[in-house]
Amino acid sequence: SACALVDRFGRRVSYLRLSVTDRCDLRCVYCMSERMTFMPRRDILSLDELSRVARAFIRLGVRKIRITGGEPLVRKGVIDLFQDLSACLQDGSLQELTLTTNGTRLARHARDLALAGVRRVNISLDTLDPHRFAALTRGGSLATVLEGIDAAQEAGLAVKINTVALRGSTEDEIDDLISFAHTRGMGLTLIETMPLGETGEDRLDQYLPLTLLRRQIEARWSLTDIGLRTGGPARYARVAETGGVIGFITPMTHNFCETCNRVRVTAAGVLHTCLGQEDAADLKAVLRSSDSNTPLMETIAHALKHKPKGHDFVLDRASVPQIARHMSATGG
Ligand code: GTP
Ligand code: 5AD
Ligand code: SF4
Repeated sequence: SACALVDRFGRRVSYLRLSVTDRCDLRCVYCMSERMTFMPRRDILSLDELSRVARAFIRLGVRKIRITGGEPLVRKGVIDLFQDLSACLQDGSLQELTLTTNGTRLARHARDLALAGVRRVNISLDTLDPHRFAALTRGGSLATVLEGIDAAQEAGLAVKINTVALRGSTEDEIDDLISFAHTRGMGLTLIETMPLGETGEDRLDQYLPLTLLRRQIEARWSLTDIGLRTGGPARYARVAETGGVIGFITPMTHNFCETCNRVRVTAAGVLHTCLGQEDAADLKAVLRSSDSNTPLMETIAHALKHKPKGHDFVLDRASVPQIARHMSATGG
């Protein structure tokens, strides 16, 4: 039924984050370690299976699907998945189909995404300095991402820039990031780093609380909190000087789990009911055991009853990550 996805705390899940690959063509220092072990290919769902998962969630009441990775656009055939799901946009069973991408392949794919009904895209970009970008991503090209951003805008997609707040980096670039995003009519969303997966770096060294960064921003810009919601975790403020919007995603300094409306499915078909907990259900076995979607929908609805109240992320010097899996395995 349409109300099947309500959890023990009365939270209705209407937002699915569907990861299509755990691989990525970048290696951001806060996300991955230098040498990563990726999922074995035999474990990865086919595009048809991903589509079945998406449609099962839609039948259970999900109205927003965000395709994630790793980097979703490195998955072969991913545009076919967008085209397939665009039918659900057309018949009204799905309200929003979107993606979060690092932008490296957007120049190639932006037009096809727009044609498939994607209206907006979140692009990860932590720095506007090419040398710093190369260091942060362990070898990535800033110019390629900037071309991707241009292509997305030329294709008519609304763009939001996602910036992970990093100590010693974001502080001295924040004004440039605000100007860059808002001059181009894009939103800018700042994110606190979360302790997922071993990266080989000290997260406490990287961590920049958004309470601090916001104070710094407010010394130079006039912010007004606004009610705008995208159905995601960000809380938004408008900047009077630019007319643009800044989002704040604050898992560490201001928990937002109480209003959580989302779950994740990995590329291997594992349903994670919370980003910051181990609770999970294997959908792949169910998918592969029957052509009927009924057992799949039952498994999903049952798993929802175990959705944890929230994460309990803590950042400390012990470099052991609280959650062993990397952000790239569940797409954030
Ligand atoms: P909008 O639809 O534009 O609101 O996007 P979104 O914020 O839902 O998605 P996006 O992929 O841009 O995510 C931005 C950041 O928010 C990523 O770092 C995610 O890991 C983080 N995030 C999204 N959902 C959750 C959540 O439920 N819990 C936590 N702790 N972080 C989340
Ligand atoms: N903490 C917070 N955000 C992260 N991202 C990747 N790893 C982390 C982390 N450990 C961000 C990416 C991207 C989004 C999907 O998640 O930069 O914007
Ligand atoms: Fe790739 Fe995104 Fe992780 Fe960077 S944050 S390594 S772009 S998945």
